[in-house]
Amino acid sequence: MRLFTTPDAMRAWSHDQRRGGHRVAVVPTMGALHAGHLALVEAALQRADRVIVTIFVNSLQFNLSNDFDSYPRPIDDDLSACERAGVDAVYAPTAAAMYSSEFQTYVEPGELADRLEGPLRPGHFRGVTTVVTKLLGATTPDLALFGQKDFQQLAIIRRMVTDLDLGVEIVGVPIIREPDGLASSSRNVRLSPDDRVGAVVLSQALTAAASAFLEGERSADSVMATVVSLIKTEPRASLEYVAVVDATTLQPVTRIESPAVVLLAGWFGDVRLIDNCVLGDNGHC
Ligand code: PAF
Repeated sequence: MRLFTTPDAMRAWSHDQRRGGHRVAVVPTMGALHAGHLALVEAALQRADRVIVTIFVNSLQFNLSNDFDSYPRPIDDDLSACERAGVDAVYAPTAAAMYSSEFQTYVEPGELADRLEGPLRPGHFRGVTTVVTKLLGATTPDLALFGQKDFQQLAIIRRMVTDLDLGVEIVGVPIIREPDGLASSSRNVRLSPDDRVGAVVLSQALTAAASAFLEGERSADSVMATVVSLIKTEPRASLEYVAVVDATTLQPVTRIESPAVVLLAGWFGDVRLIDNCVLGDNGHC
């Protein structure tokens, strides 16, 4: 497995691979790799001949400095996990290689970033679109894979790649859940043991919403009320928002007619978790 820390070295290797006729996939991450990331790698290995994982904790997308400072950075474990998973190259640039003191160009997302997570995390999606553009520029892949847990991020990245003609196929990979249903996240390790037990309420609430939909409920208000009442049963949880939106435009819906998704964010102590469920015909998330 190759390790690159500068965009030029990364790009040269990727160009060589593509010149050699290989299809190149990239899995952008901020490290602290878990089962969700490994599912992205697995999906990449199935679709490409060469797989690059990027590992970079992107200061631009954190609006709380203590969240950035406390973000886990187990780089040795991450490199071993990549090696074991069959990754061909890791791109782990330094902060200086990504954002020099002269850095001044940003990618501004449009209205998809104005709702849900957007107002609660000012500047977050601008940080994501900027870094993803840089990571795609350094890795020059045929395709890039992102988890559906960050549903809004995925929608914004798809829009950006189309709007800016970046010519990269974007693949969304379904959420990986821990055995009790909690969505895999790098933040889960920061939950206290009691909060970790209580956090299962998020996926339980989404599953209840999915079952209600399957049983014929089409009112977004009723689906949201189901989520709220279930989360209220867990005193350790503090629900920040729940929304039912169109799966493409992310506009709130009142009646669920086209493909829709229920999204939520909640706090357990100082750990913020997000989760979502596409309302479909299987009754679970
Ligand atoms: O989803 C993430 O881990 C990050 O937002 C990403 C896409 C790697 C950009 O830093």
